[in-house]
Amino acid sequence: MRIITVHPGGLDHLKITEHPDPVPQPGEVLVRWQATSLNFHDYLVAMGAIPVPAGRIPMSDGAGEVVAVGAEVSRWKAGDQVMSLFFPNWAEGKPTPAKTSSIAGETVDGCLAEMACVSEMALTAIPHSYSYAQAATLPCAAVTAWRGLVVEGNLQAGDTVLIEGTGGMSIFGLQLARAAGARVFATTSSPEKAERLLDLGAEAVVNYREDERWGRTIHKMTGGGVDHVLDVGGGSTMGNSIEAAAMGGHIAAIGILGDGRKGEITFPKLFFKHLRLTGLAVGSRVMQEALVRAIEANGIQPIIDRSFGFTELAAAFRYQASGAHFGKIVVTY
Ligand SMILES: NC(=O)c1ccc[n+]([C@@H]2O[C@H](COP(=O)([O-])OP(=O)(O)OC[C@H]3O[C@@H](n4cnc5c(N)ncnc54)[C@H](OP(=O)(O)O)[C@@H]3O)[C@@H](O)[C@H]2O)c1
Repeated sequence: MRIITVHPGGLDHLKITEHPDPVPQPGEVLVRWQATSLNFHDYLVAMGAIPVPAGRIPMSDGAGEVVAVGAEVSRWKAGDQVMSLFFPNWAEGKPTPAKTSSIAGETVDGCLAEMACVSEMALTAIPHSYSYAQAATLPCAAVTAWRGLVVEGNLQAGDTVLIEGTGGMSIFGLQLARAAGARVFATTSSPEKAERLLDLGAEAVVNYREDERWGRTIHKMTGGGVDHVLDVGGGSTMGNSIEAAAMGGHIAAIGILGDGRKGEITFPKLFFKHLRLTGLAVGSRVMQEALVRAIEANGIQPIIDRSFGFTELAAAFRYQASGAHFGKIVVTY
């Protein structure tokens, strides 16, 4: 079986090597991974911006088939269709350092292997009728959107939601919010992508490149601001996200796109608007299982922009970095 590993020097130094099939130990299952999807986090690992030991197998997301089980495994059997967890040790409850120190594709090996032994606790079933490529879009991006809107935001039918940009996490936010009966507002830098957002059910779209004060614009067009924001830019977007939010609204601080690692917040706006700001990193297995139920109940289909082959990972990352995509990019094995 083949694996791909990360080495210093970035995308030109990804290495493909062949290995014997691993053998599952007690409590482990042998999974034949069939697909992964790209997240910004994986890109940072592959580029060396998040340092990992040389030889790390990247990619947090994977979907595949159980081909064998080790002793004492009770959750899975050969033939089951499964997907990975971003945090393999976070089953349920609140995050703790112990539950979140293992990160697939960063502090422990990820899913860019044709076969891997995985703890039986670090998998969930994929949605019925999903292909492996579709399922591989879920563990990072969709779980994050689900947690931001539903788990932390307590989204209700009739609420208003702002999604920013058209990356994988944001498009899942749009789809989950629409399925829950919410009204969705969106930003993008592209007129063509704006059309696609409207087709997917966004009520209005603002171009964040053309309108520097897009937060104020959204506050106006919603007649008092949005109840939920999925913030993807941190320092580069948070000021506008706070402007866009309604009094008592919830902002999920999710990303740092646009060089937003650091930034300024005008704190009186935060507290006089009685906002709740939640920093969040993906979620638990229980959250992923709840997401799968919501996807099945509502027939949500992931938006896959483009698919690449196993040996084309560098090209897939370059395409992601171009920002041309709408939704998810997948790699199939
Ligand atoms: N905390 C977590 O658990 C978690 C989980 C998933 C993702 N994230 C983070 O969320 C962000 C999005 O992730 P993703 O995987 O969906 O990324 P992605 O697919 O690479 O999203 C890229 C898109 O974001 C938009 N964008 C870029 N710069 C922007 C800016 N300054 N303001 C607004 N939008 C901008 C662009 O949309 P347009 O082309 O439409 O302009 C771009 O196409 C990343 O920062 C990622 O690290 C965090």
